[in-house]
Amino acid sequence: MGTILVTGGAGYIGSHVARQLAERGERIVTLDNLSTGFRSAVLHGDFVQGDTGDAALVARVLAEHGVDTVMHFAAHIVVPESVTNPLKYYRNNTANTRTLLECSVAAGVRHFVFSSTAAVYGIPAGGAASEDTPALPINPYGWSKLMSERMLADVAAASPLRYAALRYFNVAGADPGGRIGQSTPEATHLIKVACQHLTGRRDRVEIFGTDYETPDGTCVRDYIHVEDLAAAHLCALDYLRSGEPSTTLNCGYGRGFSVREVLDQVARVAGRPLTIVESPRRAGDPPRLVASAERIRERLGWQPRHQDIAGIVRSALAWEQRLLRQPAA
Ligand code: UFG
Repeated sequence: MGTILVTGGAGYIGSHVARQLAERGERIVTLDNLSTGFRSAVLHGDFVQGDTGDAALVARVLAEHGVDTVMHFAAHIVVPESVTNPLKYYRNNTANTRTLLECSVAAGVRHFVFSSTAAVYGIPAGGAASEDTPALPINPYGWSKLMSERMLADVAAASPLRYAALRYFNVAGADPGGRIGQSTPEATHLIKVACQHLTGRRDRVEIFGTDYETPDGTCVRDYIHVEDLAAAHLCALDYLRSGEPSTTLNCGYGRGFSVREVLDQVARVAGRPLTIVESPRRAGDPPRLVASAERIRERLGWQPRHQDIAGIVRSALAWEQRLLRQPAA
């Protein structure tokens, strides 16, 4: 078995996948420029600080480490920022993926697991998206990822490389062992923000929009525990290693919670009420975005183990409390 290159392995999701890979005995090397990642999140394997757009560096890492699989997490992920600074996203998420792919093909990499996003669906009719739902992003972030998916498909058709593109829904929670979690202080994600409020980093939680056509007027999302999402990557790796064809799969549980339902859970877990402010809608939010999530179970044999929303919240809160004692570095 060759080494696995984990780009963005110092970031939130990449670090959880790297940890699970190492725990089952895989050889890994992490490439991260630490622009948003943390060195302390790299628990295992070799670490190289650098950029996926640096072709010479990437070629050297692939050759020196005998890489036969790339797991590509390195990306910018803030949707509103992608609207104001689209070229930043097309450079880091699209152009750098092109460089990484070019180096990968040249180095004979056989498997490529790609972090894609539910943002490729834009606003799907009915609020549920299957992999066959037409992809029509509503922001440059979604486009930057969809373009990378397109490159992957074309490269796989023209070379021996095979890939799994995983479209993440709303990822939350942290390592049950308490070693890593989502550390970015400026994070905008709902569960993280609510936990920051509980630990005193924020004085309130805003609900962005209460007049949506949803049961309680707030947006509905499919929240998936980062441990289950990470496990899906290991399943995808096994799938590719067994010679199966390239695939694109949703990563969600197939059930939605509204913003109010999530905040109720957070308050219940904490055992105290939150200070909640109702604010206007946030630009670009689809009212409902839930995965149609059968295909990943069928194709990869993936079996999620952390679906309980209270458990997701508990683990996110435990990480936030840990950050309070010991900030990420
Ligand atoms: N929300 C609030 N208050 C907050 C934060 C979020 O009300 O303080 C709401 C949002 O308006 C949204 C829901 O909570 O309705 C979830 O918002 P997040 O920011 O947690 O997540 P998103 O659904 O916006 O984003 C996620 C991923 C993106 C991806 C997108 C696809 O994090 O990377 O899904 O739609 F692009």
